[in-house]
Amino acid sequence: MVINRVGPPVRGRDFYGREAFVSLLSEKLRWGNVLLAAPRRFGKTSVMYSLIDDPRWDYKVIHADLEALTEPAELITLLVVELARAGDSRLSKIAKSLSYFPRTLWSHFTETFEEVVLMEVKIKLKEKLRPRWQESGEELFKRVAASQTTIIFVLDELPMMIDRMARSEACRSDAKTMLRWLRALRLSPSITNLRFLIAGSIGIEHVLNELGEISAINDFEKVRLDPFPAKVAAAFINDLGATHNLRLSPQSKRRMLDLIGTPIPYFLQIIFSEVAKAHAQDGAPVTPGRVEHIYRDRVLGVDCKMYFDHYYGRLREYYQPQEEKATKRILRELGMAGLLSRDACYQLYKEAIDGKAETDEFNRLMTWLENDFYVRYQPDARQYEFSCKLLRDWWLRHYGMEVSV
Ligand SMILES: Nc1ncnc2c1ncn2[C@@H]1O[C@H](COP(=O)(O)OP(=O)(O)OP(=O)(O)O)[C@@H](O)[C@H]1O
Ligand SMILES: [Mg+2]
Repeated sequence: MVINRVGPPVRGRDFYGREAFVSLLSEKLRWGNVLLAAPRRFGKTSVMYSLIDDPRWDYKVIHADLEALTEPAELITLLVVELARAGDSRLSKIAKSLSYFPRTLWSHFTETFEEVVLMEVKIKLKEKLRPRWQESGEELFKRVAASQTTIIFVLDELPMMIDRMARSEACRSDAKTMLRWLRALRLSPSITNLRFLIAGSIGIEHVLNELGEISAINDFEKVRLDPFPAKVAAAFINDLGATHNLRLSPQSKRRMLDLIGTPIPYFLQIIFSEVAKAHAQDGAPVTPGRVEHIYRDRVLGVDCKMYFDHYYGRLREYYQPQEEKATKRILRELGMAGLLSRDACYQLYKEAIDGKAETDEFNRLMTWLENDFYVRYQPDARQYEFSCKLLRDWWLRHYGMEVSV
């Protein structure tokens, strides 16, 4: 029984096929800090929830979503608040013992559970911590270190927070200070029961490189979350069909998998959802031909465009204008050709860049594109292809024409 869910993190029985991965991750966290690397929508947050819902050893998880944060005081505030509301008396005790914890306001929150009160707690605490966030953070981590419990701080979307800070003149130096401060803290010999799990949907190396802080997380072990293996993808479609009473012939299932290409769980959820919706509306049998139409008209069409738009939008947000221009050129040509040699990509890059094209810059750009799941490199043939068939089809459908950036 697995419910078709498109969008939010999946939990419990809907969290499919990642048992081995979560075991590996939790073993790694036993001994050190982990960077969970995967592009947008691969299932990172769901994996983190699984660590919380189904602990493999004796640890407690504090999950903090940093996507919208822009200053260190907000980070400390969020960690303190999450600790206080963790639902575990040992953890809330740690939070409440902090010299700066807003006890009266917090009692008000626990009496009412009103979101506005929680917001007020966060704002007040942040303002209090702003002038002395390092000291306050140290107090927090010292208290954690003194407890018997191992605590895993999950910093979801830390790269986005750092990136946002790095782009603002006012916050850029704070970003560097915060990274160095966190690193010193992790390496402190007196802290042994504290772990960090960082996840991000934009390559953190890219962000740190821009900031000149590439060594800031070199004490983290990188663990990659891959797409589903082919067998798991096939079983997943089967189970979705069984749960939702959708009769799918082996040929139709095969066609769904072939059309998607690389079996990213989110993409599987999307195609299944579109096929199920079409069937619910007209009751017509799901044949391979019908699946193909649904893929062309719906999955690649305007109805589902928003599911994939971040791939395009992200280029403007996270790449320099010259890189964005070169990338769009390369991806368009790659979409049409299917495969391009590294040299051909370099030629396109040179044409798109105003001024002198540096090979180092080109090499770095191609690494980022690989990391951010746009392209895949075949080292033996020295050529690139789109990382995934669906992405290539989608790119050609919506961005196959020359665009000026
Ligand atoms: N293990 C899984 N089983 C079933 N579906 C999954 C699984 N992992 C991810 N999905 C699908 O992918 C979607 C996104 O999952 P999740 O939010 O965990 O990804 P994410 O990598 O954190 O995304 P983002 O980068 O946007 O934060 C889910 O709504 C679901 O459709
Ligand atoms: Mg996420």
